[in-house]
Amino acid sequence: MSTADSVKIVEVGARDGLQNEKQVVPTDIKIRLIESLAASGLRHVEATSFVSPKWIPQLADAADVMAQLNRLPHVSYPVLVPNMQGYERARAAGATEIAIFSAASEAFNQRNINASIDESLARFVPIVQAAAADGVHVRGYVSTVLGCPYQGEVPLADVVRVSAALDELGCYEVSLGDTIGVGTPMKAREMFQAVAAVVPSERLAVHFHDTRGQALANIYACLEVGARVVDSSVAGLGGCPYARGATGNVATEDVVYMLEGMGLSTGVDLEALAAVGRWISTQLGRNNGSKVGVALGAKQS
Ligand code: HMG
Ligand code: MG
Repeated sequence: MSTADSVKIVEVGARDGLQNEKQVVPTDIKIRLIESLAASGLRHVEATSFVSPKWIPQLADAADVMAQLNRLPHVSYPVLVPNMQGYERARAAGATEIAIFSAASEAFNQRNINASIDESLARFVPIVQAAAADGVHVRGYVSTVLGCPYQGEVPLADVVRVSAALDELGCYEVSLGDTIGVGTPMKAREMFQAVAAVVPSERLAVHFHDTRGQALANIYACLEVGARVVDSSVAGLGGCPYARGATGNVATEDVVYMLEGMGLSTGVDLEALAAVGRWISTQLGRNNGSKVGVALGAKQS
């Protein structure tokens, strides 16, 4: 593996991390979270979702978050958009980058966005067209790439098909999500390589949930075969409301520590990030899901 290299981190804590929190997190805490993540050096900080507030009540304040957020010019703040209504709300709130999302499993897609895979892809066509006309960047997500909570096994061919479709639609990057954290390193690598055979690896991201403690190992396995974009969540926040038992994404602090230790630069101030992780864990009354965050905190006290 070349070490003269850098890795792009997409921080998803304020969206993927919070969407499953039972207690509604005050808007000002969300804003402080996003702003302090950006201040720690993260350049891609997912901010919220313009989904139905009936489906995800926690993110009903998406427009307020975007309106009140003090945005840094060199940082992108993508927001999830499931349909044209979401796109219009996101644009009205000043979003300049969106993420559209589908899944490799029919059963999951139905439960997550009430549409079949093909219906969702068709739904995205006018959104991507509008985004292109508006100069809005579009990222794509494919969920359940290594297993589905409803369907079980997910054929690789389905992962490849949906990833290629999002790429062809015009997504500048496609994020491959192990939504329920069932993957193991060799399977993760095989999946990444199968997709990279049709979508160039520099346009792919890996998105591992750490439900079974495999996320860092899976990331490492994918880095070895060319992955250079990693999604992660400060303090390992999160879960998916439509995937029971899914925990948070791999903790950003742990990813930064591993990458920097390998000579792969991230541009992130780890101490500052770890302090954000400890702060938000206290705010939410949660255990800190980052081992590095806990270790750095213990060193200070
Ligand atoms: P639906 O019920 O089929 O929607 O939900 P509909 O079009 O029939 O509309 C029903 C009602 O919802 C209407 O209101 C619409 O106005 C409203 P009513 O007339 O009943 O008052 N509505 C909306 N309101 C605000 N914003 C909107 C919107 N759309 C409709 N955008 C829908 C379909 C897609 C809306 C719904 O299923 C939904 O919002 N799903 C989102 C679920 C979600 O956010 N899941 C988590 C994100 S994905 C994830 O976490 C995985 C990822 O991290 C990667 C990985 O780990 O794998 C990305
Ligand atoms: Mg996720």
